Amino acid sequence: MQSARLRYEPLGPDNLDDFHRLVQDAHVRRYMMDGNVFPLAWSAQHMRDSQALFERRGVGIWLGRETTSGELVGFCGFAMLSSLPEPQLLYAMFERFGGRGLATEMARAAIAQARAQPGFAEIAADVDEVNAASVRVLDKLGFERVEVRQGAFGHLLVFRLASPELERAGGTIHGAATPPGRTSA
Ligand SMILES: CC(C)(COP(=O)(O)OP(=O)(O)OC[C@H]1O[C@@H](n2cnc3c(N)ncnc32)[C@H](O)[C@@H]1OP(=O)(O)O)[C@@H](O)C(=O)NCCC(=O)NCCS
Repeated sequence: MQSARLRYEPLGPDNLDDFHRLVQDAHVRRYMMDGNVFPLAWSAQHMRDSQALFERRGVGIWLGRETTSGELVGFCGFAMLSSLPEPQLLYAMFERFGGRGLATEMARAAIAQARAQPGFAEIAADVDEVNAASVRVLDKLGFERVEVRQGAFGHLLVFRLASPELERAGGTIHGAATPPGRTSA
């Protein structure tokens, strides 16, 4: 997978150490892991989960590197997290790469991959409201807020990106398109 400034590789044994370096980074884990530092075994479990999700749904976690320098930037993709019943969009990077539109670029690349698979008419994401840059990334991508929950840092916003067909038809992602048991905002 490739985007304008980045190339991507699926998370696997060869880049597990790079992934572990990212999830230990204070900027990355501040909201994403509620600030926690986890051992290598935690990262290895996420690698196995990502490999299984690639098998099952055609998406998982990719590591993103700058095409020009080969430098590790961050990761993006999808994972099954406890907060939502379907694979959820993720993106994170070392702080020094921030403010250049790279998270938006990574998220767009991951969404394009998901859209090429069955079962991703809608894309799910959630983000802590205080994580304003991440909320802005989802807004820029066209996500809509469908629910507000209580998270570790106050409001946790649940977002959905409608299918292109639904958008073209002028539909909304509230109501019928919202999974059972979930209340639209
Ligand atoms: C949050 C994060 C993904 C943003 O990455 P990034 O590459 O800087 O994001 P982008 O440049 O693509 O877009 C950020 C947008 O937020 C805006 N922004 C930045 N800080 C902001 C703030 N404090 N308040 C409001 N908007 C802010 C930027 O101006 C930009 O919007 P613009 O393009 O309209 O100017 C990155 O800092 C990160 O990896 N954080 C740690 C992991 C994480 O929290 N991931 C999200 C959870 S899934």
